[in-house]
Amino acid sequence: MSSQSGPCFSEAFENQFELLLKWRRDVRHFLPDPVSQEDLDHILTVADMAPSVGNSQPWRFVVVETQEARHAVYQSFKTANNAALSGYRGEKAKTYASLKLSGIEVAPVQLAVFCEQDPEQGAGLGRQTMPETLNYSVVSAIYNLWLAARIRGIGVGWVSILDPESVSATLGAPNSWQLVAYLCIGYPIQETDVPELETKGWQERTARESRIYSDRELRGADKVKKG
Ligand SMILES: Cc1cc2nc3c(=O)[nH]c(=O)nc-3n(C[C@H](O)[C@H](O)[C@H](O)COP(=O)(O)O)c2cc1C
Repeated sequence: MSSQSGPCFSEAFENQFELLLKWRRDVRHFLPDPVSQEDLDHILTVADMAPSVGNSQPWRFVVVETQEARHAVYQSFKTANNAALSGYRGEKAKTYASLKLSGIEVAPVQLAVFCEQDPEQGAGLGRQTMPETLNYSVVSAIYNLWLAARIRGIGVGWVSILDPESVSATLGAPNSWQLVAYLCIGYPIQETDVPELETKGWQERTARESRIYSDRELRGADKVKKG
C-alpha cells in the first residue's frame, strides 16, 4: 500500500472544475475536423480510470470506423426517432420534430459503449443484489471520457435513440455485451453553457431543491411529487 499523501487541489482548480462541469455539453452539431489519435487515446485512458463495481471494469469501447456500420447505426437512429416523434401530439410534436438528436452524420469519431454483463474481473463482488451496478460503472467511465474530451475542446454527444439489438448485431458485439451508449465525438460548431434542449424549448433545468429529500419528509409524505 502506498504511504504517499495525495495531491492537494487548489481553489483555482476547484473553480476550473466547476467551469468544466458547467460547460460540458451534449453536442449534436460537429465540425468535420478529425480528432487526433493521441486525443482519442487520452480520453479512453481517462475513461478507464472510472470506479467500477468490484473493480470489474466492465466497459467495452468499440471504435466504429466503417461507413457501412455508421450508416446502419444512423438508419437505426432515424427509425427510432420517427417512432418517438409519432408518440407526441400538438406543440410537443412540433418541437420534437425541430430537435437535432444525434450528430452521427458528421461526428468524426464514434464509439459504441457496451457493458460486459458477466465479467470474470471482480469475481462478482458488489453486484449480487444489484447486477445493474455493472451498467452504472460503464456510465461512470463515459462521464470521465465526456469531461476529459471537453477539457481538450472536444464535444461528446450521447445517442440513445437507437435499437440496441440492431446496433449490437451491426457491430458484431458478443451476446454478453449490453449496449449502454453510442457516442458521437468531435469538435463542436459552437460552445455554450446552456443545454440545447433548454434553448430549443423542450425542457429547462429546474431548481435542485426539488430533487433533494430527507427520509423524515418522505416517510411522512403520502406521495412524492413527480417532476
Ligand atoms: C443516458 C443519456 C442518453 C441520452 N440520449 C440522447 C439522445 O439520444 N439524443 C440526444 O440528442 N441527446 C441525448 N442525451 C443528452 C441529453 O439530452 C442532455 O444531456 C440533456 O439535455 C442536458 O444537456 P447537457 O448534456 O448539454 O447538459 C442523452 C444523455 C444521457 C445522459
